[in-house]
Amino acid sequence: MKRNPGNIVLGIESSCDETAAAVVTKEKLILSNVVYSQIREHEHFGGVVPEIAARAHLEKIDLVVNKALKDSKVDRSKITAVAGTCGPGLIGGVIVGATFAKAMAMALDVPFIAVNHIAAHALSVRLTEKVDFPYLLMLMSGGHCQLCVVHAVDDFEVIGKTLDDSVGEAFDKVAKLLNWGYPGGPAVEKMSTAGDNTVFPLPRPLCHKGSCDFSFAGLKTAVRIASEKCRTEQDRINLGASFQQAVVDVLSYKMTQALEIGKGQHLTAAVISGGVAANQSVRMALQRVCHRYGLPFYAPPVVLCTDNGAMIAWTGIEMANNPLCDFRFAPRPRWPLTRRGISPC
Ligand code: KG4
Ligand code: ZN
Repeated sequence: MKRNPGNIVLGIESSCDETAAAVVTKEKLILSNVVYSQIREHEHFGGVVPEIAARAHLEKIDLVVNKALKDSKVDRSKITAVAGTCGPGLIGGVIVGATFAKAMAMALDVPFIAVNHIAAHALSVRLTEKVDFPYLLMLMSGGHCQLCVVHAVDDFEVIGKTLDDSVGEAFDKVAKLLNWGYPGGPAVEKMSTAGDNTVFPLPRPLCHKGSCDFSFAGLKTAVRIASEKCRTEQDRINLGASFQQAVVDVLSYKMTQALEIGKGQHLTAAVISGGVAANQSVRMALQRVCHRYGLPFYAPPVVLCTDNGAMIAWTGIEMANNPLCDFRFAPRPRWPLTRRGISPC
C-alpha cells in the first residue's frame, strides 16, 4: 500500500540567516529540530548579507540535515516526504535549501513538497496547539509584517501589510543604531528591561486611520533623531525601551482593528507568529487585547517563532496532498500569500 506522504516529514529551511532542519510526524511529534544560526557570519556587518548567507547555508546544510535525521532516531527509509522552503526569501539561500531538499527527496524516493515560508509561520501554531480555521494571524518577522485571516492551509485573506519596513527590521535597525549588535530584537528586549519606556515621546505611525496596514520607517527615523540627544548608555536604554513600547502600542492598535473587522467572520482564535512574536512584552500586550474581545490567543513556543525546520516539516504535513508536491517547483524570491490558495508554479 502506498504510504501517506504526510506521515513523517523532513523539513528544510534556508530562506534567511538560519540553516534549519527537523523531522516531524503527523501526530505532531517533533522528533528533531536543528537550527544553525548565522549570527557570527553577519554580526560584523550589523545585518544579513545575502551572498554570505547563501555560502553559509551551502557550508552547513548537509551537517544540519544529517543531524536532524540522526537526532530523530528515525530510519531514513521511514521518511515519507521532504518539505523545503521554496520562497519567499533571499534567493541564494532559498536555492541552496530547495535544491538540497529535492535531492534528498529523490535519494529517499519520496515526494518533495514546496513550502511557502510565510505560510509556514502562519500554520506553525497548529503544530503545538489545536487551532481550527478560520483564525486571525498577525505575522511579524524580519522579512514580513502582515495581518491575515487564515481560512485553510492554502487560503489566506490578507487584511493589512507593512507599507515600508517590517517590524523585525525596525528592531534590527534600532539595535544597530544603539550599538547593541545583531540580531536586534532579542537585544532590544533584553536592554529594555532596565529602561524607562516613557522618557522619549515617539510616534505611533498609522494609529489613527482605522487601517490594518503598518508603517515603521517613520518610527525608526524618530529613534535616530532622538538618539542624537542621548548622552549616556542609560539614555540609550530608555530610548530602546520607548521604541519597544511604541511598537507594542502599534501592534495592539492593529490587533484591535483586525478584531473589529473580523467580528463577523466567526474567527476561532487570534495567533501571532514570526521572530518578533518571541518578544514577551509583545506577547503579553496582544494577549490582553484578544482577552478583551473574548477570543482565544495563541503564540507558538519561542523556539518555533523564529525560523526553524519544524514549521516547514509541519506545513509539508498539512499540504502533503497538495499540487505543490512537485520536483519542478522553482524557488521564488517573492511569493505572497493569496486568497484562493498559493498559486502553483
Ligand atoms: O521569523 P524570523 O526568525 O525570520 C524571518 O522570517 O524574517 O524573524 C527574525 C526577526 C528579526 O528581525 C529579529 O530581530 C526579530 O525577529 N526578533 C525579535 C525577537 N527575537 C527575534 N524581535 C523582538 N523581540 C525578540 N525577542
Ligand atoms: Zn521567518
